[in-house]
Amino acid sequence: MRPRVIVNCAMSADGKIASRARKQTRLSDEKDMARVHRLRNECDAILIGIGTVMADDPSLLVKKKYIEGKVRQPVRIVLDSRCRIPKSAKVLAGSAKTILAVTENHAKKVGNAEVLACGKGKRVDLNILLDKLAKRGVKKVLVEGGGETIWSFVKAGLVDTFIVFIGSRLIGGRSAPTPMDGEGFASEEEFAMLALKKTTITEGGILLEFRVE
Ligand SMILES: NC(=O)c1ccc[n+]([C@@H]2O[C@H](COP(=O)([O-])OP(=O)(O)OC[C@H]3O[C@@H](n4cnc5c(N)ncnc54)[C@H](OP(=O)(O)O)[C@@H]3O)[C@@H](O)[C@H]2O)c1
Repeated sequence: MRPRVIVNCAMSADGKIASRARKQTRLSDEKDMARVHRLRNECDAILIGIGTVMADDPSLLVKKKYIEGKVRQPVRIVLDSRCRIPKSAKVLAGSAKTILAVTENHAKKVGNAEVLACGKGKRVDLNILLDKLAKRGVKKVLVEGGGETIWSFVKAGLVDTFIVFIGSRLIGGRSAPTPMDGEGFASEEEFAMLALKKTTITEGGILLEFRVE
């Protein structure tokens, strides 16, 4: 059975996950940050695309200050078809394990990361990746972005839960990234259908939790 896939992201009130400069932008409030770290701690893996590594250089670690009890530090996964991650990337350092998902012919040693070859295509084959993760005992994967990555997971029909925090900012810009970029669906029949399961209003925004039908 493939792992359960949860997408979590934060966007501005006008639907952007960063500005047109594509740099990390804080959109969650403190209560939501705590929720994200608790969610990370419940998952077996946290996944992002190489675009987010290049733009934001996140460490993807669970911050102890948000967790009551044991911090688990899920395995960190980067979709990086051509294995172009810089050696200095924070996601390669720290106490958690890192997996680089690459395409065949691009597998090479990068620090202490485990490299998984997933398909012969131009990009990482997500079905192969999830299959390999399931064999390693991964049951729950948290996909944190960016827009190209989330699009690929939704397009492949691999998302079970879609969570979005809408913060109190307006960012604008036709080229600013959104929760789901890629080419997008053209017709209504293709749209991914969601069922709203929960809403939570916080000081700085609103959290929407959907099941993907
Ligand atoms: N607000 C939030 O919650 C949030 C969270 C995360 C990121 N962000 C923002 O999102 C932006 C980055 O997003 P992005 O869309 O440019 O990049 P991204 O989704 O992080 O990474 C996309 C890249 O991953 C690689 N990749 C490999 N296999 C893939 C596959 N099957 N499907 C999709 N991508 C695959 C591709 O590069 P290769 O072909 O070279 O492998 C692709 O260009 C930044 O501005 C960041 O700040 C916001």
